[in-house]
Amino acid sequence: MMKSRRDFLQQVSGAAFAATAAPSLLAWAFPQGQEPVPFPGEPGMVLRSFRFVDLESPVAYFNTWLTPVSHFFVRNHMHEPMQFDVGEWKLTVGGEVEKPLILTLVDLHRMATHSVVNTLECAGNGRGLYRPQVPGIQWGKGAVGTGRFSGPRLRDVLNRAGVKPSGRHVMFRGRDEVPGNVPPFIRSIPLEKALDGDTLIATHMNGSPLTKHHGFPARGLVPGWIGSASCKWLTEIKVLDSEFAGNFMNPGYRLPNQPVKPGQAVKPEDTHPVTALNVKSLISAPTDGTAIRAGQTTVHGVAWAGEADVTKVEISTDGGANWSPTRLGHEQARYAWRLWSYDWKTAKPGDYTLLSRATDSRGRTQPAEAIWNPSGYLNNSIDQVRVHVE
Ligand code: MTE
Repeated sequence: MMKSRRDFLQQVSGAAFAATAAPSLLAWAFPQGQEPVPFPGEPGMVLRSFRFVDLESPVAYFNTWLTPVSHFFVRNHMHEPMQFDVGEWKLTVGGEVEKPLILTLVDLHRMATHSVVNTLECAGNGRGLYRPQVPGIQWGKGAVGTGRFSGPRLRDVLNRAGVKPSGRHVMFRGRDEVPGNVPPFIRSIPLEKALDGDTLIATHMNGSPLTKHHGFPARGLVPGWIGSASCKWLTEIKVLDSEFAGNFMNPGYRLPNQPVKPGQAVKPEDTHPVTALNVKSLISAPTDGTAIRAGQTTVHGVAWAGEADVTKVEISTDGGANWSPTRLGHEQARYAWRLWSYDWKTAKPGDYTLLSRATDSRGRTQPAEAIWNPSGYLNNSIDQVRVHVE
């Protein structure tokens, strides 16, 4: 084990050397600082943490409505579960229910299946771009992706168990390998969201069984909400009479009720849980630092808004003085991002900063700068890339 880890680290430093040795090639495809470090079986992904696997997608990959599973970011707070016999896997459903259940994978497969195309984004996506910097995984822009998730509705399972009137929240427990004193990955969602017809116990992603990285054999799928709500490697569902009180609910995944200054203490009672995602857009091509030929270039990107709909995406090629509408792609679903594109007739040669900003059906528009917060959550600042027109 130690040996293979050392070998891997050597491989990583070798790759970092190779990246510096051939900067021009890599700079074409990946923004500075996002050059991929190879991770076994995950070519092209940006390794953000090796101890617990955290993989980021380069933004250049966001050129399809559905993100291929091999290009989908991975966020793990701890080790993925050890190998287990799927025939032995069980999902218990208990707590404030009339009839506790023990379900096998065959039981789940026998239930009616529903599919939801959902943009899954980690609450910490863009954390590395906040200034001053905050502790935590220094995600760039690519801890987001869109997948078609399928499986039984959580509602159908809860109805089978019969939620008692005292039930208020639904707790998910993952079977992560918990190292040392780390608290287990347990979170809860309000009963109302759990009973929503689009909240799933997903067993499939993009038409295939979930991979281990993404929660095999079953995960919660809480559409439109931050990724941490969608618990992977589900092993227990429990109906509670109040919000679960563990580490990943409090102090984890909370925002101050009012903006705070860096270093300012925040009392727990002055915070609230992070739930639905913000309105946000990204420019996926051209990538930051690219040189392009004068003439016409198509600028591409993606935009999403959690539980709301994206109504427009605008682009500025003059640092924000003027904004033009972009074309939204035809593919759409309630919780999924929209592709967008814009034909840019480049003017004079020189350096340009391209900006993109999305607006949603609730009237929210991306701010020039997202509100800084101590955990670096929900960074939805207007996106920008620098390009050179030759
Ligand atoms: N579920 C478990 N059991 N353990 C985890 O560490 N990470 C959460 C969530 N579910 C996590 C989990 C977080 S923070 C995110 S953003 C999403 O899974 C990421 O899902 P993905 O790795 O399939 O992209």
